[in-house]
Amino acid sequence: MKRRTLVAALVALASVSLPAAAGGADALVKARQASMKEMAAAAKAIAEMFDGKRAYEPSAFKAAASTLSARTGPALIAEFPQDTFGAPSAARPEINQARPEFEALARHIGRLADALAAKAEKAPPEITADMRMGAGLPMDGGSLLGKRPGAVEADPAGMPSEHLLHMILQDCTSCHSKFRQKVE
Ligand code: HEC
Repeated sequence: MKRRTLVAALVALASVSLPAAAGGADALVKARQASMKEMAAAAKAIAEMFDGKRAYEPSAFKAAASTLSARTGPALIAEFPQDTFGAPSAARPEINQARPEFEALARHIGRLADALAAKAEKAPPEITADMRMGAGLPMDGGSLLGKRPGAVEADPAGMPSEHLLHMILQDCTSCHSKFRQKVE
């Protein structure tokens, strides 16, 4: 009697797990969208602290920077496995073909976010001048002007936090303009 109910329960579980396969892809898309939203909130928090729109708190800066670091690089790549693109996801199916470019962008933003998180670890109690955009850059703006062909990119560890944030935001935009589409 007891055994039979257990078997019945197992059969019931097995049968619900079949349609769950489709739900699995759905959950993956929802999870990465949630992850992206967390990155957006983190980037906004840091931007507002630097813009004076929100009180600067070293601990909040640290938390937001570590969110960016944890959700970029290999973690971002892992959230976008092959053939999980197209509606209802806003990820373009082209990611399948342009995989190297997509992953290079994910790693690039990952390195910048890691550098920012390392700086945030040692964040001083107040925003200092050397954390600001332009600190330690050549007078012409240097790498701010973008990726000149053949130009060697500066080491992110040497860049001020605010500059790193701007470069991170550029990577969000580059990836979205290439690999995200509107879905209704
Ligand atoms: C390497 C590519 C890539 C990078 C880098 C990237 N994104 Fe995304 N982002 C995507 C793709 C693709 C989607 C669509 C995901 C989906 O719907 O499955 C997306 C979706 C989003 C969404 C919408 C989420 C939703 O609720 O549907 C937000 C917000 C977002 N990204 C913010 C950011 C921010 C902020 C950054 C930078 C800190 C960033 N993204 C960096 C590729 C990227």
